[in-house]
Amino acid sequence: MKIINVVGARPNFMKIGPLIDEMKKHIRIESILVHTEQHYDENMSRLFFDQLKLPEPDIYLGVGSGSHAQQTARIMLEFEKVLIKEKPDLVIVVGDVNSTIACALTASKLQIKIAHVEAGLRSFDRDMPEEINRMLTDCLSDYLFVTEKSGEINLLREGVEKNKIFFVGNVMIDTLLKHKERAKDSRILFDLGLESEDGLGPKEHKIKPFALVTLHRPGNVDVRDNFIGILESLEEIQKHLKIIYPMHPRTRGNIEKFRLSQRFSFLEGAESVSRDRGIVILNPLGYLDFIKLMSEARLVLTDSGGVQEETTALGVPCLTLRENTERPVTVSEGSNFIVGTKKDNIIKAALTAINSTGKKGRIPEKWDGFAAQRIVDILLNTNKEVRQT
Ligand code: UD1
Ligand code: UDP
Repeated sequence: MKIINVVGARPNFMKIGPLIDEMKKHIRIESILVHTEQHYDENMSRLFFDQLKLPEPDIYLGVGSGSHAQQTARIMLEFEKVLIKEKPDLVIVVGDVNSTIACALTASKLQIKIAHVEAGLRSFDRDMPEEINRMLTDCLSDYLFVTEKSGEINLLREGVEKNKIFFVGNVMIDTLLKHKERAKDSRILFDLGLESEDGLGPKEHKIKPFALVTLHRPGNVDVRDNFIGILESLEEIQKHLKIIYPMHPRTRGNIEKFRLSQRFSFLEGAESVSRDRGIVILNPLGYLDFIKLMSEARLVLTDSGGVQEETTALGVPCLTLRENTERPVTVSEGSNFIVGTKKDNIIKAALTAINSTGKKGRIPEKWDGFAAQRIVDILLNTNKEVRQT
């Protein structure tokens, strides 16, 4: 069975990693890794190959950034050549980025079977480009692997045949569980002045309380007024709790475009590292450093899809700065609250979280580290009982 696995953007790397590891165990599978290079900066791509020990991609498409149509079209043009040459039996796409829909659409026109990992999630908000990518990819897929029950319900409602849908758990959590221990060795807390040894030995490390922030949704960071409202809420929250903010390149670009650098520069920089308050703005972090910060954070504020799931798996309180989520299990069972994007609501929710023990939640069904194994077993049609230990 010749399988092409597609990655393109940061969240894809964590999702494809466990699948590739699992495929290596089966000599019946020949696995090829294609990187579209939708993300290409060292700290949005290469760093994850090193830290997650992913194999070097067999093929790079070199598409880079552009408008939605430009990026999607370039991926399709390049990926078509790969499919014609390699003639795979199956293409695996993950998540909801432009690389996901572009490769699925290209494969479907060449009558190649498609597996969508993380199928069925719906925010019911078509203003999000990801919602369009999710719906269309699901329409074209032959195997729809879902992470939570809502995915199955959504797909059945949309008329997808039941025998194509498989509730397998969450490959992103497979990766988190695999690397959580390694992340404990990260030096990031020391480097940011958040942890001191106090001369008492490694067990007695003291960690200063902090909040971790990530933001990159166009609705939050591309619209000046929305972005300023969110930044003003952070300005208020930092008076109560230090904020660590690794900034996505889209957002960094907007700080410059909206001429906001000066306004926020007094909060960041070297001197803020030594203070208990303030916002420390960083470049995007590697996976292990980010997981370490997330695990130790008093509170996470985010608009990321993956971070909502990882905080739920870690039992760390999360405030989602969006009006909706396509991952409702993180709210109904996990540690996530949807707080919207209005400044006052964000401040209120953050202060409530800071002054309480916070929502720990419980781990959703099948988020147990075995999702990739279930997927590969289904693809090989072995139907054997999945090991639980
Ligand atoms: C993309 C996904 C989004 C996902 C996010 C994960 C789509 C439509 N969006 O959003 O679903 O949550 O990735 O991080 O696929 N840039 C760089 N260096 C890079 C990559 C991007 O500087 O390595 C800058 C460029 O200016 C680019 C902008 O970021 O135009 C946006 O990149 P793009 O891939 O289009 O969308 P993301 O916001 O990253
Ligand atoms: N992440 C990271 N470094 C960062 C920010 C996020 O390693 O500075 C990881 C995070 O732990 C998760 C993934 O990137 O595994 C989420 O990606 P992102 O938020 O870019 O995309 P989304 O999940 O919203 O599509």
